[in-house]
Amino acid sequence: MKKALFISIAFICVLGSCTRPRPTEINSPDNTIKLAFYLNDSNQMAYHITVNDTPFIAPSILGFEARDGINLSEDFHITGTDFDSKDEIWTQPWGENKSIRNHYNEMAVHLTDTKETLLTLRFRVFNDGIGFRYEYQVPDADSLFITDELTSFNIAQDGTSWSIPASFDTYELLYRTQPISQIDNANTPMTFKTGNIYASIHEAALTDFPEMTLKNTGNCLLKSELAPWPDGVKARITGGTFQTPWRTIQIAPKAVGLINSGLILNLNEPCVLETTDWIRPMKYVGIWWGMHLGVESWVINDRHGATTENAKRYIDFAAANHIEAVMFEGWNEGWENWGGTQNFDYTRPYADFNLQETARYAREKGIEIIGHHETGGNIPNYENQLDKAYQWYADLGIHSVKTGYAGGLPAGHNHHGQYNVRHYRNVVKTAAKYHTTLDVHEPIKDTGIRRTYPNMMTREGARGMEWNAWSTGNPPSHHELLPFTRLLSGPMDYTPGIFDILYERAKHSPFRKKWNSMDSKDCRVNTTLAKQIANWVVIYSPLQMAADMIENYEGHPAFQFFRDFDADCDWSEALAGEPGEFVVIVRKAKDKYFLGATTNEEARTTDIKLDFLEKGKTYKATIYADGANADWETNPTSYEILEKTVTTDDTLSIRMAKGGGQAITFIPLEK
Ligand code: NOJ
Ligand code: CA
Repeated sequence: MKKALFISIAFICVLGSCTRPRPTEINSPDNTIKLAFYLNDSNQMAYHITVNDTPFIAPSILGFEARDGINLSEDFHITGTDFDSKDEIWTQPWGENKSIRNHYNEMAVHLTDTKETLLTLRFRVFNDGIGFRYEYQVPDADSLFITDELTSFNIAQDGTSWSIPASFDTYELLYRTQPISQIDNANTPMTFKTGNIYASIHEAALTDFPEMTLKNTGNCLLKSELAPWPDGVKARITGGTFQTPWRTIQIAPKAVGLINSGLILNLNEPCVLETTDWIRPMKYVGIWWGMHLGVESWVINDRHGATTENAKRYIDFAAANHIEAVMFEGWNEGWENWGGTQNFDYTRPYADFNLQETARYAREKGIEIIGHHETGGNIPNYENQLDKAYQWYADLGIHSVKTGYAGGLPAGHNHHGQYNVRHYRNVVKTAAKYHTTLDVHEPIKDTGIRRTYPNMMTREGARGMEWNAWSTGNPPSHHELLPFTRLLSGPMDYTPGIFDILYERAKHSPFRKKWNSMDSKDCRVNTTLAKQIANWVVIYSPLQMAADMIENYEGHPAFQFFRDFDADCDWSEALAGEPGEFVVIVRKAKDKYFLGATTNEEARTTDIKLDFLEKGKTYKATIYADGANADWETNPTSYEILEKTVTTDDTLSIRMAKGGGQAITFIPLEK
């Protein structure tokens, strides 16, 4: 029977064109995820995905549109298919996990059209999701102007989604929990639950392309919408050869599986830096929160925050509290024009800030300085000074810089288009030349580029702590949404750890002034104190800030957590959680473990097995818990510190107040 079938196929092939369909299906290594590529009846390129043999992504279109008669989507035919697979472990100098398994099956579908444009569609299917990218070669083209991306994600069954709206200018928006079918547009990572499956759509390795957002074009049919240039073109390509970022879908049976997935980093290129020993995770404090609360100013005046004297006070505090670095904002000329001409000068300190002396003092105390470059969005002004500014800092021994883009871009550019993606990459490369690490505020969203350039350490790219200083603030559930959405893309400089939750000190300060139109004067932090501590663990950042003014930490027993904390994490695992509800994450750094658990507006208790602890060892667990009557609204600062002796065989019952949390350090006891 088998023999007869083989003979008849061979016979058809010998007779002329072989009509046997080429294999264009691929499974994940564990066979749970199956992806098929095909040309549909209209000869469009399309794919669909099943998970556990259930439709997950229904037939969805692929391709691009371009100007000037260039065809990137229609009437392509398959010329060949290559299959490959990989199973390797690679390591990185820092990260939630220093070693990562990269295990996938790959299918490269080769296509061409009547004009001899070549396209390879490269699909990779992992046990935790899929990624695909387009690799085009258009013959005889000097340049290409991409006008639209057709890539669609036709989610087979409606479900719940968690996302921020699409905006080409900001990610600092509140999350929405809504049916997938109700999404109008969304930024990525866009997380959803359909049937029993959790998933998140995003992109990886965005290096020279506009960002992708999602637009709902019918029921649960989400289509890519790229951030445009001012003239409406989406992407400009020099020559005719280009490859896109990866379009990704992380897939997991449990919500925490998305957090534990290494898919985004696996789809980025390996490190290109020759050495990385100059890159190190650090904890930091800074002259920062006072400005947001309005008790200090960025501009030089009698309320100026960044004075030499104040900087030294912060350096002393860092040195006395096992904190590696300090950051000062408002140190340089130009703040008086923030929101106006935005012509910051990156090598000219204000008259009351002696950077040479501050740098000398920091060196003497063994403390690193994190510099600050606010651009206000004036990219040309920053690019003109880039080399000089990084060289100048490096000469002063400053090898870490926080950047910011709070303001509109010139010439009609938006923040997330290709123009700015190129700019950010230029800054990362320039910083690397001077062995400098970066913490970018108002960034392009993370797409895992830190694997290739590990000096790109952390970024903002969501509503961070600052919003609590001068707006209605971030609601309690914001912190249980971030780990399942924004943080899937990479680390965030949220700047947690405000201990003066109700701003008692700032409210009584004679210097307090409204500085921002959203500042309502009865702002506050919408969590308990214990949750602030837990967020140092939950919201991963290799540069982790204790964001409050140091007066609010001095003498506070709960600050011991940050003293013990180690930002140089080796291993992490999200143990339990649901988007918008609660999350429990543990991280290991050297021989210590740190656990953070947080909850939304609901109080809850969750039992956590300590089987992540090393067998045969006994640990002192120091527990920073909500007080018995703590409540984020009515009693946010009530907390207690408990100690226990535990081993890997124990289970802890983690009790969290409304809008509360719990943080635990596990330190091995000497035998
Ligand atoms: C916005 C940033 O997110 C914040 O951290 C910074 O203080 C201000 N811009 C000023 O640079
Ligand atoms: Ca910001």
